[in-house]
Amino acid sequence: MKQGFFYITIFLISSFMNAQISASDVVLQNKIEKLIEQLTIEEKVALCSGRDDWSTMPIERLDIPWIWLSDGPHGIRRAPATNKPGYGDQLPATCFPTASALAASWDIDLVYKVGQTLGEECQALDVNVLLGPGVNIKRSVLGGRNFEYFSEDPILSGEMGAAFINGVQSQGVGTSLKHFAANNVETMRMYNNSNVDSRTLNEIYLKPFEIAVKKAQPWTVMASYNRVQGEYGTQNSYLLTEKLKNEWDFKGIVISDWFAIVDRVKAMKAGMHIEMPKVSTVNNAIVVDAIKNGILDIAVVDGLVKEILTIVFKAKSLEKEGIQLNIEKDHAFARKVAAEVATLLKNDNEVLPITKEKYKKVAIIGEFAVNPRYQGNGSSQVKPTQLDKALDIIKNEYGKDIKITYSQGYNLTNDNDISLIEEAKKIAANADVALVFSGLPLQYESEGIDRTHINMPASHNKLINEISTVQKNTVVVLTNGSAVTMPWLKNVSGVLETWLGGQAGAGGITDVLFGKVNPSGKLAETFPMRLEDTPAFFNFPGEQGDVLYGERFFVGYRYYDERKIEPLFPFGYGLSYTNFEYSNLKVSSKNTTDKEGLTVSLTVKNIGKVKGKEVVQLYVSDQESTLQRPEKELKKFVKIELNPGEEKTVSFKLESNDFSYFDSKRNRWIAESGDFVISVGASSRDIRVSEKINLQSTQLVPLAFDEYTFFLEYWNNKQTRKILLEYMPNWIRGIVTEGDEAEIREYQGFMVEHPLIKYPYITSGEITHEQVLEIVEKCKNLTYTP
Ligand code: BGC
Repeated sequence: MKQGFFYITIFLISSFMNAQISASDVVLQNKIEKLIEQLTIEEKVALCSGRDDWSTMPIERLDIPWIWLSDGPHGIRRAPATNKPGYGDQLPATCFPTASALAASWDIDLVYKVGQTLGEECQALDVNVLLGPGVNIKRSVLGGRNFEYFSEDPILSGEMGAAFINGVQSQGVGTSLKHFAANNVETMRMYNNSNVDSRTLNEIYLKPFEIAVKKAQPWTVMASYNRVQGEYGTQNSYLLTEKLKNEWDFKGIVISDWFAIVDRVKAMKAGMHIEMPKVSTVNNAIVVDAIKNGILDIAVVDGLVKEILTIVFKAKSLEKEGIQLNIEKDHAFARKVAAEVATLLKNDNEVLPITKEKYKKVAIIGEFAVNPRYQGNGSSQVKPTQLDKALDIIKNEYGKDIKITYSQGYNLTNDNDISLIEEAKKIAANADVALVFSGLPLQYESEGIDRTHINMPASHNKLINEISTVQKNTVVVLTNGSAVTMPWLKNVSGVLETWLGGQAGAGGITDVLFGKVNPSGKLAETFPMRLEDTPAFFNFPGEQGDVLYGERFFVGYRYYDERKIEPLFPFGYGLSYTNFEYSNLKVSSKNTTDKEGLTVSLTVKNIGKVKGKEVVQLYVSDQESTLQRPEKELKKFVKIELNPGEEKTVSFKLESNDFSYFDSKRNRWIAESGDFVISVGASSRDIRVSEKINLQSTQLVPLAFDEYTFFLEYWNNKQTRKILLEYMPNWIRGIVTEGDEAEIREYQGFMVEHPLIKYPYITSGEITHEQVLEIVEKCKNLTYTP
């Protein structure tokens, strides 16, 4: 009785709260409806375009405000005014590690907190919408914007994107999920067509967007420059309406990437809300004419305006007054983040961490130690509030106990200048350990330009090799936004990948090098041995405006696994100063259904001497499938922290979509019956525990047979076999064996492997063309369980 009362009370309270939320929604929607009645056609169209570089259009007559959209997203790149481009004169803001670095943390909570801090800084800088995150897949190592994207894997990219959005939006600031979609190449970025098949598009390239939209509902999505399956991202109704709005239930608005509009009328019909930035009034005039000439229905425009105003009023209502940048706090947090993303790739003989017990003299070599590279080139460039330098930090924090020497090592403006190497060798030979800060200079990675190779400057490579001849404890500290080759790898003892670590990167790196923080980053992208080994090698960056996604869904580790190619470092890889043991894998059932799903649990133990964090990765492999599938795919991951000797139970819940592939013929996700192997490990190439299970599908999916389906397929299905027997009994009798369980005679194979449409002449007229169509019609609503 008491319990019943409790539930009723909870029900009433929650209904009341929902009623409250919807009551304020109703008030807003009524207000918007009224505004739409008062707006002229010209004003409605103007609202669907920017006011200038960074703001939406206000209509002062009706008190419709504007909101501020600002670049980033690993910091706020706020221009001094909305009508200024803001390159070089942007306001200072905290510069965090870029997306490729953040993803290496594999830490959803951390990325959420980064988003939260960015949201606070947006409030302080009067920004309503932060233009990011980018969740495009790193299809090729050559992609010029790879430093701005999370991963080669759709699940990791989607989860990182969702965490980032949820963090920013928790502060009453919107985001713009970009660049929608299949925007993976910079060469000819304004025209290139991503020629990608539907299955690959859905499984790999749309998946991160789908996850981010469903889990985080970004206020805006940015439609990309490129074409997808022949149609521009800004006017692609499959992407903007069918997928984003109808299937994923996106509630926000779509804005164009800057100058991405080609045909604004077509774009609006496809579901594009705002053209950014304001280019001129030419496009507005074209749209007004289209409305007046009946080419564009005013109802479509009203729908768009309604959604735009909903976001604009929401943004205004969530603005906070009097917020200040918390420069010191945010800088300290950026340092913590930089340490969390650092990825230890090699650590022979425990060359790291550096301690005063192990080493008396440390040689710091490489100009990056005094002139750090900490972010990428292009529209995402943030003006930092301050900038840490590794040499200063190391000297300040450890210089009392350890002798620190420095040599420049290379010339950042001349890749081939090796004149500084001899000097560097001298200090390396005189030290107990040499840290070589090297990697990719700014001009190597940029928005708008793809890379043509993945090598570091010749001077950096030579420097490392030469240092390693005089110092056995050589540690390479890499700074780069995306994979590089390491021709010197065998000669050095340690490699720490630090990515583009933001303004406090040097502090974070120091914390890891000197053991204050145990490294826990793992690669979110495969590092190949050589460019020729990479999946898109033959099809990147495309030709004459067409980019064939010929490797299909074999992107990243999916490709290396399938081709059995040994990468330099595999996806998911990263070392720690401790070790972890995996055991005790349990599944909730060895026979399950797609509806029930599966719970997987295991124990992870820290078997080393120091506290550390481990990224536990779960992969699913389909053992028998109608369609080709990758050897294994990442489906779940979690980052846990363990003290020495401590163990934790980790559990994951797998659902239907974790077993599914996208069937493009049937335009749906299918979880097929059969055996699956669930494996859990420390990287994609370091699986520690696994278990086989059987899944029984309960789905009923359309058979999708038509006049081009082969006779044999009709024959192999019990339901359609019956129909064939009705229409062409005589011809069938001639090709099958006797009896109730009649089978096609072996030598008749050739006769049954034709589309049904040919059977009027194959059966010498026993069936007519009209009857073929009748069969197709009868089969139209048939379903099967995959
Ligand atoms: C970039 C976007 C950016 C926009 C505004 C475009 O060129 O592709 O990522 O948000 O410019 O600067």
